[in-house]
Amino acid sequence: MSHNLGRNSFGDPANAGNLMTIEEANTLLNEWVPNEKLRLHMKQVAAVMKAWAIEKENADEQTALKWELAGLLHDADWEKYPDDHCRIIIEELEKRNIDPDVIHCIASHGPGYFGVEPNNIMDKMIYAFDELSGFVHAAALIRPTRYEGLEVKSVLKRLKSPAFAAQVSREDINDAISRINTSLEEVIQFIIDHQKNVN
Ligand SMILES: [Fe+2]
Repeated sequence: MSHNLGRNSFGDPANAGNLMTIEEANTLLNEWVPNEKLRLHMKQVAAVMKAWAIEKENADEQTALKWELAGLLHDADWEKYPDDHCRIIIEELEKRNIDPDVIHCIASHGPGYFGVEPNNIMDKMIYAFDELSGFVHAAALIRPTRYEGLEVKSVLKRLKSPAFAAQVSREDINDAISRINTSLEEVIQFIIDHQKNVN
């Protein structure tokens, strides 16, 4: 099943700055995503996106909200519309006149699947965080103390073991990291630090 979106332009530039509240995004998630684990994944990606925007990109409140919303909604259609994953949530956000930056960010969270290249740092970070956030979480879950004491080097070791969380594409992770000026180690540490308290 091809998930190629077949286009590169998303939303209307006239809607720049038009966002929704986190409460509104959570209402959408609760309706569209009954699977609690999948909702947690999106909340984790949202938390690291928001933290990265503020800590690393000096983002103002509005910009940080864009990063957070993209993280929170990027897989919103995955559970109900697996064959049309990404297209459905994008069309929904276009219908709601949401800022095109948020929509493009979601559209580019898997360039190999959706055929949309990440343009800016927000797009590139959601691509890097998406697979790595889930991988770090899987690495934490198998430890008795979970995130407590979880070290980057043990996550790296698991990445080198193809059988562990085999569904996570190491190729996508390497591709995502090659597009940013931050090391894999630093991104993993950032994820550990910022998603450990998300629940
Ligand atoms: Fe995801």
